[in-house]
Amino acid sequence: SGSSSEEHGKEPPGPRPLPLLGNLLQLDLKRPYQTLCELSKKYGSVFTVHVGPRKVVVLAGYKTVKQALVNHAEEFGDRGINHMFNEINKGHGIVFANGDSWKEMRRFALTNLRDFGMGKKASEEKIIEEIRYLTEVFEEHKGKAFDTTQPINYAVSNIICSIVYGSRFEYSDPRFRRSVDQANEIIQLGGSVSIQLYNMFPWLGPLLKSRTRIIKNVTNNKEEMMELVRGLKETLNPQMCRGFVDSFLVRKQTLEESGNMNSHYHNENLIQTVANLFAAGTDTTGTTLRWGLLLMAKYPHIQDKVQEEISRVIGSRQALVEDRKNLPYTDAVIHETQRLANIVPMAIPHTTTRDITFQGYFIKKGTEVFPLLTSVLQDESEWESPHTFNPAHFLDEEGRFVKKDAFMPFSAGRRVCLGEGLARMELFLFFTSLLQRFCFSPPPGVTEDDLDLTPSLGFTLTPSPHQLCAVSRV
Ligand code: HEM
Repeated sequence: SGSSSEEHGKEPPGPRPLPLLGNLLQLDLKRPYQTLCELSKKYGSVFTVHVGPRKVVVLAGYKTVKQALVNHAEEFGDRGINHMFNEINKGHGIVFANGDSWKEMRRFALTNLRDFGMGKKASEEKIIEEIRYLTEVFEEHKGKAFDTTQPINYAVSNIICSIVYGSRFEYSDPRFRRSVDQANEIIQLGGSVSIQLYNMFPWLGPLLKSRTRIIKNVTNNKEEMMELVRGLKETLNPQMCRGFVDSFLVRKQTLEESGNMNSHYHNENLIQTVANLFAAGTDTTGTTLRWGLLLMAKYPHIQDKVQEEISRVIGSRQALVEDRKNLPYTDAVIHETQRLANIVPMAIPHTTTRDITFQGYFIKKGTEVFPLLTSVLQDESEWESPHTFNPAHFLDEEGRFVKKDAFMPFSAGRRVCLGEGLARMELFLFFTSLLQRFCFSPPPGVTEDDLDLTPSLGFTLTPSPHQLCAVSRV
């Protein structure tokens, strides 16, 4: 508009907005990422869309998303924090934070994930131990159909528990079950139509049941976490940290003893960072695993090939991370699952840290930006058959695994998923071990064609409710 466009060049094009509603009438709030993919066909790879009164710049396609998030990592590297998450996190923690506090918490969490989690023998052992418990639960169903959601989420959540608290919980523990179930509900409600509307028109807040429900769950979970932290504090031994919480408490104590009372190491950051690790680390990995099992039940000929490879290469012993390089087909199936499942379709909103001219368009400092990961994972110029499940996307003619640059389910750049290494280790070990022990199939009376791949609506894209049979292979 006016002088700013003359000075800086034009803003990214887009559909004409209505007052107040913006482009709301054009957006399918049940599948916003699909509307945005369609709009990009008309307006190009950088375009403006008005989400109610919020002006958002959308980045579409592999080349553009990569150019923005990687080549202009600083400019596109802040988080866009919506009303709902601001209300929950208040700028603390990692996922919905910015500035020095974000930087410090992210760095500290990464160091601790390395020490207590990924990249180390310790985390492999933790995951393998958890697989034994999960397998037991699957076996108890004796091949009868069941919903895999809870057992898988409990198993995956326990990996974060081990890293954060230093111990796992029994699946039968009612407090543990409640925390995991509630965290899951927060994430699902977080993407609901009513919360999306709340983020456009905050005055709707008091009217919305979903918001009340989210706040109640958040409060309960926070109390639970604070109690666990209190227990750890009472038994703290600075010489022997059991997990993330211990090392946070030790750092906090050290800073306080040296007279530094204004550090970022305070209780709010501790609780919100722990909550972030659970929320970001449980639902995502669990959902991806459930997509994997569902796809195996739907495509039995692919499942056969995975199982043939596992039997041939590792037989019946426990799979280890180092086996991955010898299991190219299985690895390709896991990558293809993540590509097609597309569980975080618009990443998490970013904002620009300064004015920038990008691909000839002027984008103002503080503009909200959606990196449209769907348009990368299904980019027609990068993938042979973008909309079908095709493990050959990740295999060469000799059946060797090939990396693909447009494989970007964890996003990229300054805000790239902090748990990528851990998630990849979990996906490989859980998936391989489950396929080694069980054959997955639809419930009796349901055909493979009946199995529905339409995701249900949420902050992450999860499979629609379904049951599977896990028939023991041994
Ligand atoms: C952020 C995907 C597992 C912790 C993200 C983002 C994506 C993502 C797309 C947003 C990046 C952006 O803003 O551009 C996934 C997927 C996972 C997974 C697909 C599993 C299959 C995990 C795990 C953890 C984790 C296991 C924890 C250990 C985080 C955190 C952030 C994040 C803390 C926020 C980073 C920041 O704002 O600086 N993840 N994630 N994620 N993820 Fe993950």
